[in-house]
Amino acid sequence: MHQIIAVNGSPRMEKGYTQLLLDAFLQGMTEAGADVETVFTSRLNIKPCACGRLYCWNDKPGECCIQDDMQPLYPKLKSANILVLATPVYIPLPGDFQNFINRLCPLLDPVLEMRRGRTRARMRADVKIQKMVLVATSGWWEVENMDTVLKIIKELAEDASVEFSGALLRPHSSVMKSADKITPDGQSVLNAARTAGSDLIRSGSMNPDTLAAISRPLISPEDFLS
Ligand SMILES: Cc1cc2nc3c(=O)[nH]c(=O)nc-3n(C[C@H](O)[C@H](O)[C@H](O)COP(=O)(O)O)c2cc1C
Repeated sequence: MHQIIAVNGSPRMEKGYTQLLLDAFLQGMTEAGADVETVFTSRLNIKPCACGRLYCWNDKPGECCIQDDMQPLYPKLKSANILVLATPVYIPLPGDFQNFINRLCPLLDPVLEMRRGRTRARMRADVKIQKMVLVATSGWWEVENMDTVLKIIKELAEDASVEFSGALLRPHSSVMKSADKITPDGQSVLNAARTAGSDLIRSGSMNPDTLAAISRPLISPEDFLS
């Protein structure tokens, strides 16, 4: 059984475009037999990393000294096979979500090695996460505006020696709706997200054409600006 934990960093939580896209993706995963849980960083008390000297590596490896809502989340993160990171682009990330990413440090083994010229770590032996996926939405027209967020999550996966399975990127997210209803184009994006989720569980990967369908322009740049 695939165990999925999805962490959504949108302060708009259930009402946001990120959750709209994430829900479709997770629905596809569930239909393919995965067990899925979603948490919202804005609903949790996740303080910034404060020790500044890698207590979770140097003093008590694997343990975070900050007593807040990350403590009950750590066991859930450890037992998941796939970590889905969902966020809106906020030049680049919402604050709570950045705190969450920083607080993943205790999941990493404090043994560094050089791989292809880069200093890398690994997940600790008791962490089951094998894959990471990014689900992101943004307001601006072009998908390239999401490059910084994509780079951050890819780098996180490589640092942890976890497969980065791909990204569901939805620019000009608001065009998925009109008068608060999903448009036919918006629905086709959500259908593609559902297919991506199902494919990832059934075949272990997502089709690049499906991911391209999620990111495709839904409006011309001129109409977007006007
Ligand atoms: C503080 C803030 C910063 C944002 N920065 C960007 C940005 O740099 N680029 C962009 O394309 N959209 C930006 N947006 C728009 C959001 O990324 C976009 O509306 C997103 O789909 C919101 O997702 P949500 O409804 O799940 O919160 C920003 C929104 C806010 C509130």
